[in-house]
Amino acid sequence: MRKAYEMGFGKTSSEYENVSLDIQGKIPPWIEGELIRNGPGTFRVGDEHYRHWFDGLAMLHKFSIKGGKVGYTNRFLGCKAYDQALQTGRISFSEFATDPCDKLFHRIKTLFRPKLTDSAKVNVAHFDSRYLALGETPMQIEFDRKTLESCGVYQYDRNNMHVTTVHPHIDTRRGELYNLVIRFGRKSTYQLIRSKGHTTEPVARIRTTHPAYIHSFGSSPNYFILAEYPLRVYPLNILLSGKPFIENYRWQPEKGTLFYIISRQNGKTVCHLETEPFFAFHHVNAFEKEDKLFVDLIKYPTAEIIESFYLDKIKSEKKPLPGGRLVRFAMDLLTGKLKEYALSDEDVELMRFDHERFNMSPDYNIVYTTGLNKNAGNSFYDQLTKIDLSLGSSKIWYQKGCFPGEPVFVGKPGRTKEDEGVVISVVLDENAGRSFLLILDAETFSELARVNAPHAILFGYHGEFFQDTE
Ligand SMILES: [Fe+2]
Repeated sequence: MRKAYEMGFGKTSSEYENVSLDIQGKIPPWIEGELIRNGPGTFRVGDEHYRHWFDGLAMLHKFSIKGGKVGYTNRFLGCKAYDQALQTGRISFSEFATDPCDKLFHRIKTLFRPKLTDSAKVNVAHFDSRYLALGETPMQIEFDRKTLESCGVYQYDRNNMHVTTVHPHIDTRRGELYNLVIRFGRKSTYQLIRSKGHTTEPVARIRTTHPAYIHSFGSSPNYFILAEYPLRVYPLNILLSGKPFIENYRWQPEKGTLFYIISRQNGKTVCHLETEPFFAFHHVNAFEKEDKLFVDLIKYPTAEIIESFYLDKIKSEKKPLPGGRLVRFAMDLLTGKLKEYALSDEDVELMRFDHERFNMSPDYNIVYTTGLNKNAGNSFYDQLTKIDLSLGSSKIWYQKGCFPGEPVFVGKPGRTKEDEGVVISVVLDENAGRSFLLILDAETFSELARVNAPHAILFGYHGEFFQDTE
């Protein structure tokens, strides 16, 4: 098996506490803050293995940057799934594509007392003075930014949800968090919620009999955009089938993909627009211009990408990973017509942009992504891509044997240009046998510095750079 996949989908054996890291190159002195990343810390518990990239027990990683120096801390996320794995040496909670209940007795027990994972491993957020580890189940875990220790469960709404997204829209000015939650039942509900302080209230509700798997949703100044893909589930199957969560969903292309456009003002569905079947994990940005709504996302023709993330498929290297494409939907809400435009021909995922200045703005032009090198044919992300929407061009960072994670844009304070700043990514280097933090000049996409981590960091998902002032 390829060394990178053995390391990136293996097990973390050490937790470090603020160790100083070696730096090659020079980190711009204006960068002061902490990159906190979330992802799996192990794909093995005792003799048992998780099956999919979206499984595993959460681990937080923190790179603290100050005065051109970098410290590193990593810690398994304290939660019931982790505690029980330690105590029993077994996988005890249901994950995205791994079900621990391999015996009839366990299956029956779980039917009446489902144990969905609380290992919130997908994203992090800063909201209401709290730092949160986010997962797709209702149990988000608050953690201490200094030590990465868990402080307990943070729930949006204990009674009214079964799954949620790890990509809430946070309005820092108003101190509000918006998210999509889904309640399964005979009549299931998509529900948009607003949290402020300790209060959570519904903003909009849409009924459905076969809810879709939805990983994120869009937000423009006047609308929420809910894309309902034809990857659908009959909710009772989640309880009765005995299959892991995602394996209950079926691709039903005849249903097409439906965009629900929801008024932010009153929560009513302004219109719904149907288009050809497709799947996406990530909305990128949305904005309004000249009476039209524009929605950018990373599109796949089918949901095959979820199958491609099973670890045995990645490790077998039989097929290159399917690439997502950055596309734009231009929607006329009066006529109900929509047009789709390709924004790039690169194969991409895990995108970021200057969210602070260009979220919901028609003026945004630069998107940073992980991607797939067209010549390498790898079964996992192996390059970083900068896409300039105004020029229709892209810049690439690629180094053979290196596998970079989500590129986080950190803007230079007082910047006047959209790409004035740096892009930071955790890269697994299979030749060195460890990871490094790569710091690129966001404008030229050339390397400014690399910071050697003390170990190989497993392939993670999302993270955030928190300025020292936060
Ligand atoms: Fe995501």
